[in-house]
Amino acid sequence: MIIKERTQVGIVGAGPAGLLLSHLLALAGVDSVVVETKTREYCEARQRAGMLEATTVELLREVGLGKRLDAEGLEHDGIYLQFDGERHHLDFRELTGGRWITIYAQTEIVKDLIKARRGDGAALEFGVRGTQVAELDSSRPVLRYTDAAGVRHEVRCDVLAGCDGFHGVCRASIPEGGLRVATERCYPYGWLGILAQAPPSTDQVIYARHENGFALHSMRTPEIGRLYLQVPADEDIARWPDDRIWHELERRLAVPGWELRTGPVLEKGITPMRSFVAAPMRYGRLFLAGDAAHIVPPTGAKGLNLAVADVAALATALIRLVRDGSAELADAYSDSCLQRIWRATHLACWMTTMLHVVPGQDEFESALQLAQLRNLVTSRAAATMLAENYTGYAPLGYDPDTRLSPTALWPWVA
Ligand code: PHB
Repeated sequence: MIIKERTQVGIVGAGPAGLLLSHLLALAGVDSVVVETKTREYCEARQRAGMLEATTVELLREVGLGKRLDAEGLEHDGIYLQFDGERHHLDFRELTGGRWITIYAQTEIVKDLIKARRGDGAALEFGVRGTQVAELDSSRPVLRYTDAAGVRHEVRCDVLAGCDGFHGVCRASIPEGGLRVATERCYPYGWLGILAQAPPSTDQVIYARHENGFALHSMRTPEIGRLYLQVPADEDIARWPDDRIWHELERRLAVPGWELRTGPVLEKGITPMRSFVAAPMRYGRLFLAGDAAHIVPPTGAKGLNLAVADVAALATALIRLVRDGSAELADAYSDSCLQRIWRATHLACWMTTMLHVVPGQDEFESALQLAQLRNLVTSRAAATMLAENYTGYAPLGYDPDTRLSPTALWPWVA
């Protein structure tokens, strides 16, 4: 048996992009269904990045998701950049005239969103199988899935949103010729990340370039540290017992007079690094948002912030489309996002290649990396460039209530 249903927006993926989209649509009275292959427990436990731009924080507050974020998020003025055994502070707040960043893990945002959506009685299906999106260029595309109880559903929608990540079915369902994929760039290294029962040994995040490779000291709470090490892209995690991880972190993060606090490793994993952009972020009545359309390496922490920015624009566009019958913003959606995406793609690629050391790289490469880092800590203009890009690109262009034209709302779109 197939259950036939109807909704306004069919959303594939219950990560931060899909959940936030469903939340923003509901605030404007637009119905959606969210389907996710993973279980709720898995979605609420998976460890991802945790650095939020001020614009991301402000949007979450504006739409009623700021309570726990304000209570538990850790506000930072800037970051530390470390190289040649020296650690330098960059004060973003001072450099940008007040912009800051906040540590609040993606998993916590997902928990807050699931709670809010469930509290609203939203249609949120975890553990689904056989997800398909079809009839994308018709006026009533369809979302099919088998729910956790084994019942097949066919949902007729006004539009579909692909928020199902890099490996999801939505981008893959776009027929040949429907997408231009900017050449993908893979990096010859990955990040080994740990979550540790160890109070952070720093008040703000440290990005360190060391001859042995990159290291990052971040945190989740005043008791829990989040740290990363550059490792080869195809590294086997079994080669990294906890002692070896701590030892290497100590070596790469060392500066005179500073000590790294260690503790039990609660979780560890290796993430590959790639840059990828697919455009346009739309085919017919299927719109892509977040990792389904683009991936950045994690250096610079742009992934989640880009997903939130996509969704802010997409929610506005879809509200206009399905509630008011105006396609103007939907037609401008992809262009409105791509400028920000390419700026973030550049920042992430630049920070990555400046801070990671490829085994056997030549002296020229190393000298260029060090010259750029020295420039950032000695030139106010250079530091301001990093600070502006790191703290985000205002405004987000979220405007569900007024009738602004695309050029008024997204003035950067030609
Ligand atoms: C993190 O806290 O997980 C984090 C922070 C900064 C990054 C990447 C990840 O650039």
